[in-house]
Amino acid sequence: MVRLSTIALGLVYGLSNVLGVVADTATLTDPAIDGAVNVGFPTVNITAVLAEAENELGVNGTVTDNLPADYGAPGTTISARDLEKLQELRKRTFGNTVFGAIACLSLKILFPSKTAAVGSSNYAQWNNPSFWSSTTYMTPMCVFRPVSADDISCAMRIIALSQTDFNVVGGGHSAIKGWANAEDGVLIILSGLTGVKIKSGYAEVSTGERWGNVFTALDQNKLMALGGRMSTVGVPGLVLGGGISYLSNNWGFVADQVKNFEVVLANGWVVNANAGANADLFRALKGGSSNFGIVTRVDLYTWPCTKGVYSGQLYFADTRDYPKMFDAVYNYHTVGALQDTQTHLISAFVYVGALGMHMGAFTAFRNVSVPDGGPALKEVLEINPAVTNSSTLQVRPYGTQAIELGSGDMNGLRQDMRDFSVYADKELYKELFQIWNTTMIPKHGSKTGFMGTIAFQPITIKAVAAGVARGGNSLGLEGNTKTMGIINLTHQWADPSHDAAILASLDEIMTASIARAKARNAYHPYFYLNYARKQDNPIGSYGTASVNRLKIVSKYYDPCGIFQDRVPGGFKIPGL
Ligand SMILES: Cc1cc2nc3c(=O)[nH]c(=O)nc-3n(C[C@H](O)[C@H](O)[C@H](O)COP(=O)(O)OP(=O)(O)OC[C@H]3O[C@@H](n4cnc5c(N)ncnc54)[C@H](O)[C@@H]3O)c2cc1C
Ligand SMILES: *[C@@H]1O[C@H](CO)[C@@H](O)[C@H](O)[C@H]1NC(C)=O
Ligand SMILES: *[C@@H]1O[C@H](CO)[C@@H](O)[C@H](O)[C@H]1NC(C)=O
Ligand SMILES: *[C@@H]1O[C@H](CO)[C@@H](O)[C@H](O)[C@H]1NC(C)=O
Ligand SMILES: *[C@@H]1O[C@H](CO)[C@@H](O)[C@H](O)[C@H]1NC(C)=O
Ligand SMILES: *[C@@H]1O[C@H](CO)[C@@H](O)[C@H](O)[C@H]1NC(C)=O
Ligand SMILES: *[C@@H]1O[C@H](CO)[C@@H](O)[C@H](O)[C@H]1NC(C)=O
Repeated sequence: MVRLSTIALGLVYGLSNVLGVVADTATLTDPAIDGAVNVGFPTVNITAVLAEAENELGVNGTVTDNLPADYGAPGTTISARDLEKLQELRKRTFGNTVFGAIACLSLKILFPSKTAAVGSSNYAQWNNPSFWSSTTYMTPMCVFRPVSADDISCAMRIIALSQTDFNVVGGGHSAIKGWANAEDGVLIILSGLTGVKIKSGYAEVSTGERWGNVFTALDQNKLMALGGRMSTVGVPGLVLGGGISYLSNNWGFVADQVKNFEVVLANGWVVNANAGANADLFRALKGGSSNFGIVTRVDLYTWPCTKGVYSGQLYFADTRDYPKMFDAVYNYHTVGALQDTQTHLISAFVYVGALGMHMGAFTAFRNVSVPDGGPALKEVLEINPAVTNSSTLQVRPYGTQAIELGSGDMNGLRQDMRDFSVYADKELYKELFQIWNTTMIPKHGSKTGFMGTIAFQPITIKAVAAGVARGGNSLGLEGNTKTMGIINLTHQWADPSHDAAILASLDEIMTASIARAKARNAYHPYFYLNYARKQDNPIGSYGTASVNRLKIVSKYYDPCGIFQDRVPGGFKIPGL
C-alpha cells in the first residue's frame, strides 16, 4: 500500500505541472494509419476499470483524474496529448510500484484467468521456468498471458494509461536480464498466443509460437519457410532481430521473408504493416526489435518442399581434423555459400566441459531431395569420411532438422551470448578460435555444467541483396561488398557464483578478438542483435541512415515513446 500523503502531494504537483504541459504538446498528433485499425476494447470502459482498481487500492483518481473528461467512451482512442499529460504526472509523482499495482489490478478485473499476481500458482508456472536462461529471472508485479491480439490491445491501453513499466516475452531465449522482463511491472507472456495457419503462399504465425510447431505445420503441408534453426527458440524475438535460417544464403534474414506483421501499437490499435500498408513500420520491424509495438502475428512466405531436404549433424571429435575444418569453413563462406545458395552450414566449435573435450558440431543443409551435398558442401563432407558416415545426414522433411537440434536445448542454466562481425578471413578465424581456446578453456572448462561455443556464420552479398529485393530491412548491411562473418560466442554453466569470472574472461576475449580483427583490417562494426551483448548497441551498429529511419518511425507510431521509456530493457534506438 502506498502512503496517501505522498500520493496527494504528488497529485497536486503533477496536476499543476500538467497544466503547463498542454500548450507545449498541442501539436502532438496520433498516427494516420493505413488500412483498418482494430481495437480489442469496443465495449470495455477502460476508465471505469482503472477507477475500480484505484478504489480497491485506495489510490482514487491517481490515473483517472488526469484523463480528459470525454475519455472513457467505449472504443474512444487515446490521443498522444492525453498520454503526454500522464507521463508528466508519472515523472513528477511516484515510482513504478503504484502504477504497476493499478495496471495489474485492472488486468485482473478484466482478465481474471489470464492475469497472475506474485505468489499465485499461475505466476510460478508462467514466469521463470519458461525462460531459457536463469540469468533472466525477475519478479514482475504480475504476469499477463493473453490469447489474442484483442487481449493485448486492451491490456496495452491499460498499461499506457497507467504508465507502468512493462515488457513482453516471446520464446524467452534472450539471455540478458531485463530484456524480456520488467521488475515490479507487467510482464506480457505470449505463450498463449498460438496458431499457425497455412494460407496460399504464406503462413500466419502467432507470436506465442516457437519454431518447432511452425515447422511441424509446414512439414504436414509439404512447405518450407525461413525460420530459426532450433525448434525451441521463439518466433518473435528471432524475427524482429533479423533471424538466420537454413535458407538465408538465398533469401536473406528471416525478417526479409515476412509478408506482413500484425502489431499492437502503444495506443492499443491493432494494425498491419506490410509492403502496401504502413510500409515504414514494416521495414523498421525487420531488425528494429521491440521498439515499435507488440507484434502479435508474423506472416511468413512459404515455398513447396514436396520431397524434403538433405540435412544432418556432423560431430568432429578428433582435434586433428581442426585445420581441415577451418579451411572448409572459410571456403564455404567465400565460395560454397555463393555457389549454391540453397545450402547452409552451421560451424560451431564447442568445448564440452563434462567430457573435457573439444568438438566440432556442424550442421550441413541443402535444399535437395537426394543425398548429395553438391559442390558447395563437398569439402565439408570430405573432412573426415567416418564423421560424415556416422552423421545424421539424410533426406528428410525440412522441419525435422530444427527439431533434431532443438532436442538438446535445456532451460534454467546460466547462459551468455555475444557476437561481433568480421570480413571472412581464414587466418583470423583460426586466431579467434585460439584466443577463445586459450583464454576460456584452461580457466573455466572444468566448471560445473560448462559448455562453450564459438561459431562462424557467413552473411553473403546475395543474402543482403535478398533483403533489398523485398524492400529492405533495418540492419544497414546494404553497403557490404564481400562476405561478412558473424562470430558468435555462446556459453553455459550451472553455478551463479561463477558468473563474474566467466563474464570477465568473455569480455577479455571480445576485446582481444576485436583488436585482432582490426589489426588484420577485417573488422566489421555490425553487431547481430539476436546474439548481441547488452552494451554492444546493435541498433546503433546499423548506421546513421537506418537509425534515423527508426527514429522517425518510432516518433510517428509511438509519439509518447511508451516503448522507449516504459519498457525497461531491450535494445533501444540510440539518440531517442
Ligand atoms: C538455443 C538458441 C538457438 C538460436 N538459434 C538461432 C538461429 O538459428 N537463428 C537466429 O537468428 N537466432 C538464433 N538464436 C538467437 C535468437 O534469435 C534470440 O535469442 C531471440 O531473441 C529469441 O527470440 P525469443 O522470442 O525466444 O526471445 P525473447 O527473449 O522472448 O525476446 C527477445 C526480445 O524480443 C522482444 N519481443 C519478444 N516478443 C515480442 C513481440 N511479440 N513483439 C515485440 N517484441 C518482442 C523481447 O521483449 C526481447 O527484447 C538462438 C538462440 C538460442 C538460445
Ligand atoms: C475511493 O472511492 C470509493 C468509491 O468512489 C469510495 O468509496 C472511497 O471512499 C474512496 N476512497 C478514498 C481513499 O478516497
Ligand atoms: C466510463 O467510466 C467512467 C468512470 O466510471 C464514467 O465516468 C464514464 O461516464 C463512463 N463512460 C461511458 C461512456 O460509459
Ligand atoms: C527448395 O527447393 C525446391 C525444389 O527445387 C524449390 O521448389 C523451392 O523453391 C526451394 N525452396 C526455397 C525456399 O528456395
Ligand atoms: C562408411 O560406411 C560404410 C557402410 O555403411 C562402410 O562400408 C565404409 O567403410 C564407411 N566409411 C568410413 C570412412 O568409415
Ligand atoms: C587449445 O589450446 C591448447 C593450449 O592451451 C592447445 O594445446 C590445444 O591444442 C588447443 N586446441 C585446439 C583444438 O586447437
Ligand atoms: C550461435 O551459437 C549457438 C550456440 O552454439 C548456435 O545455436 C547458433 O546457431 C549460432 N549462431 C550462428 C549464427 O552461428
